[in-house]
Amino acid sequence: MAHPTGHAHAPASGPSGPPLPRRVSAEMLEVLAHRRSLPLRALVEPGPDAAELRTLLTLAARVPDHGRLVPWRFIVLEGEARAHAGDRFDALYARQNPDLPVSKATMWRDYLLRAPVTIVLVSRADPQAKIPLFNQELSAGAAGMALVTAAAALGFATQWLLKWPGRDPDAAALLGVAADERVAGFIHIGSPSEAPPDRPRPALSDVVSYWSAD
Ligand SMILES: Cc1cc2nc3c(=O)[nH]c(=O)nc-3n(C[C@H](O)[C@H](O)[C@H](O)COP(=O)(O)O)c2cc1C
Repeated sequence: MAHPTGHAHAPASGPSGPPLPRRVSAEMLEVLAHRRSLPLRALVEPGPDAAELRTLLTLAARVPDHGRLVPWRFIVLEGEARAHAGDRFDALYARQNPDLPVSKATMWRDYLLRAPVTIVLVSRADPQAKIPLFNQELSAGAAGMALVTAAAALGFATQWLLKWPGRDPDAAALLGVAADERVAGFIHIGSPSEAPPDRPRPALSDVVSYWSAD
């Protein structure tokens, strides 16, 4: 919203007014409280349709980003493209592993065909930028989490994996990932076919402390 002075942002100095009315979203809290990853084998059709995918990507692109560098991007693998990408991974994997058993010849094709849609999250952090590299990489992580959360809000399940295609630069290059970019995740999305119990979560007492001067 435009500021009355015509500036995009209110000045940082000056007195603050009373708090605006709080808008509590019980639905969002519910989604956050119950979201968990599902194993890839439990992700089934249907995946997000074109409009839902657009919503997911729009929300994933709405994350804190120091310096507005947009240090991440997304590559969508859906439909036939999954098999074609998988075939290329299999060919590269076979070259890297000459003794690969025949049973594993199509493992990456099979892997990519499991989820209806996979979004490859790419970090394109720039070490030459004035913004620290760490800040940029954290923004990519935030984009991944926003995507996963948005998918949960749409009723989809996800699993965020790296595995060999996410770790090997030559595999990434087959998807058009440049040498100065890095895959931050293969985020697999589909409908949940099961609702497994949650995994143990850390006790807050193990991860939270309240700092005080004494
Ligand atoms: C960046 C990143 C990469 C991951 N890569 C793998 C992986 O290659 N293999 C694996 O088994 N789990 C991997 N995981 C973990 C899975 O996503 C796991 O299912 C998830 O952490 C379960 O936690 P949740 O139920 O709270 O979502 C990765 C997680 C992150 C954040």
